[in-house]
Amino acid sequence: MTVERTEENTVAYTVEGGIAWVKFNRPEKRNCMSPKLNRQMMRVLDELEYRDDVGVLVLTGEGSAWSAGMDLKEYFRETEAEGLRGIRKSQSEAYGWWRRLRWYHKPTIAMVNGWCFGGGYGPLHSCDLAFAAEDAQFGLSEINWGILPGGGATKVATNLLSMRNAMYHALMGENIDGKTAAEWGLINEAVPAASLEARVTEVAKVLLEKNPVALKATKDAVRRVMEMTYDNAEDYLIRAQEAANFFDGEGRKEGIKQFIDDKTYKPGLGAYNRSGDA
Ligand code: COA
Repeated sequence: MTVERTEENTVAYTVEGGIAWVKFNRPEKRNCMSPKLNRQMMRVLDELEYRDDVGVLVLTGEGSAWSAGMDLKEYFRETEAEGLRGIRKSQSEAYGWWRRLRWYHKPTIAMVNGWCFGGGYGPLHSCDLAFAAEDAQFGLSEINWGILPGGGATKVATNLLSMRNAMYHALMGENIDGKTAAEWGLINEAVPAASLEARVTEVAKVLLEKNPVALKATKDAVRRVMEMTYDNAEDYLIRAQEAANFFDGEGRKEGIKQFIDDKTYKPGLGAYNRSGDA
């Protein structure tokens, strides 16, 4: 049965215990990204980003797929029929929410429950951390239908994989499973499908204990310094910490105090108690 989803229904989300669970919600189309989905995802990210009850965002998929990449019919064929204006508009909608996610105010986790193809590598890379089911399948399938891995996918592959693995992956159009994706560095970790949600929840809970200003400064720093010389990175990190002090001057003092004066925790073994933050 063909399900015609409203734009609003292409993305689903719930917020529970500080975690926003956001789902690609076109399971009948293996969660491929249509212009409707891309527009709705941007609205959902916008709605959740600065909410006080959201500390971590998890991006996952409904059904058997995480995302089967771009929608070949609605994203490619139908927008191309509209000419260059249509093509550029749909590109900017897709790239726009991936970019928003890349620099999101809260830490983000990709929970890859199944198929992850092509354009899906954009949001995969946008998420700060990535966990997958061992039997999830990852592929740069573009070569199989006659294009290069665009929309950032080649950049993602070369950022995260060795040159040899990136080249093999892009040229051969063969899929790798979650275990191989973890070995190659495409994701952090692969676990049995039945424990995926529990593992992601465990990681999210650890993040929820950390100072949120420090989390945002850290995630941005990791992405920014990758493209800098050592000296530029050194300077950027000084400025970034000073900017973080402006937003949260007391957190780090409290962290030092609880270790040095109160002796209530050890930073090498866990986070300070933030209920003491001024
Ligand atoms: N674009 C458009 N439609 C897609 C799609 C995509 N990327 N991926 C899946 N669909 C649609 C199928 O056309 C099918 O639609 P229908 O029910 O109207 O016939 C529906 O989703 C289910 O897909 P199906 O192929 O029957 O599911 P499957 O579980 O047997 O296979 C995949 C899953 C992901 C292996 C397969 O759908 C596939 O190869 N998709 C394309 C992946 C791809 O190359 N993406 C790269 C885009 S950059």
